[in-house]
Amino acid sequence: MHVPVLLKEVISYLDPQPNENFVDGAFGEGGHSLAILENTSPAGKILGIETDKEMCARWLARKFQIPKSPSTPSSGPRGKFQRVILVNDNFVNLKKVVKEKKFGPISGVLLDLGISSWHLEESQKGFSFLRNEFLMMRLDGDKSKLTAASIINHWPAAELERIFREYGEERFASKMAAAICSLRNRKPIETTWQLAEIIKRILPPAYEGGRIHPATRVFLALRIAVNRELENLERTLPQILEVLNKGGKICVITFNSLEDRIVKNFFKEQAREGRSKILTPKPVTPGLVEIKNNPRSRSAKLRAAAKV
Ligand SMILES: C[S@@+](CC[C@H](N)C(=O)[O-])C[C@H]1O[C@@H](n2cnc3c(N)ncnc32)[C@H](O)[C@@H]1O
Repeated sequence: MHVPVLLKEVISYLDPQPNENFVDGAFGEGGHSLAILENTSPAGKILGIETDKEMCARWLARKFQIPKSPSTPSSGPRGKFQRVILVNDNFVNLKKVVKEKKFGPISGVLLDLGISSWHLEESQKGFSFLRNEFLMMRLDGDKSKLTAASIINHWPAAELERIFREYGEERFASKMAAAICSLRNRKPIETTWQLAEIIKRILPPAYEGGRIHPATRVFLALRIAVNRELENLERTLPQILEVLNKGGKICVITFNSLEDRIVKNFFKEQAREGRSKILTPKPVTPGLVEIKNNPRSRSAKLRAAAKV
């Protein structure tokens, strides 16, 4: 199971109360949502949005495994699952989904960005260089759209260099783009291991002092490009402020500096214009115990604001 990151902190900023409704825009396995639901019984609801249809199906499978009982308390496991409306969509359509579901009033919105442990370990979508899989990297699983393999095999060197530099903050972007373009002419690069091998071969042995796998930054860059992660975040934040109730909270957990900058700048701009109040002057990060128990939390940053 995916371990929800900064859970206590999210609950403290969202401050869910009985009967309040929340939107979880990157629903995943619903870890944060279930904790919110603990506090919102008997009638508080969650509108969950999740772009990965397999992830949605996994939630439904869990829901139907819970045994039916004659009295289902709203705070019991089944009661909590019943108070979730899960929609398979991209959070960039948040306002439309809220309207279609006639969902409200909304006391808070959470975006826990990125991918879950299941995506890395089991989804077979090519997110991890530790597994040999087709280089797809699409969260929505639609192979007919842009994939990481099509970027790697068809984009011009200058574009590859740009995304490696801009999205991956990779120092060796130009060297990597050149190597990929020369090798792909001999044989298409279609798997995670093919790409990871190429990268490993051209980087200096002491890359980043051995702290991260040499392919980490390129894989992140590809994922961001394929799923338009930065553009979607920029388009979603204003929609969140629109759908929130006055006084409603917005919490965003980011996992890289590009996402964090977008959230920080948006919160600052809205605060300057008197539309929201920043609740986290500095981003909240996990403590040593959380990082030890869940190493994937180490790059997480939480920022929160309230609609004025
Ligand atoms: C870090 S996980 C969320 C984990 C969740 N908070 C939990 O505790 O289980 C992020 C989830 O958001 C989904 N996601 C990422 N981008 C999305 C988008 N643009 N729209 C909707 N869902 C998205 C991913 O598929 C993934 O399941």
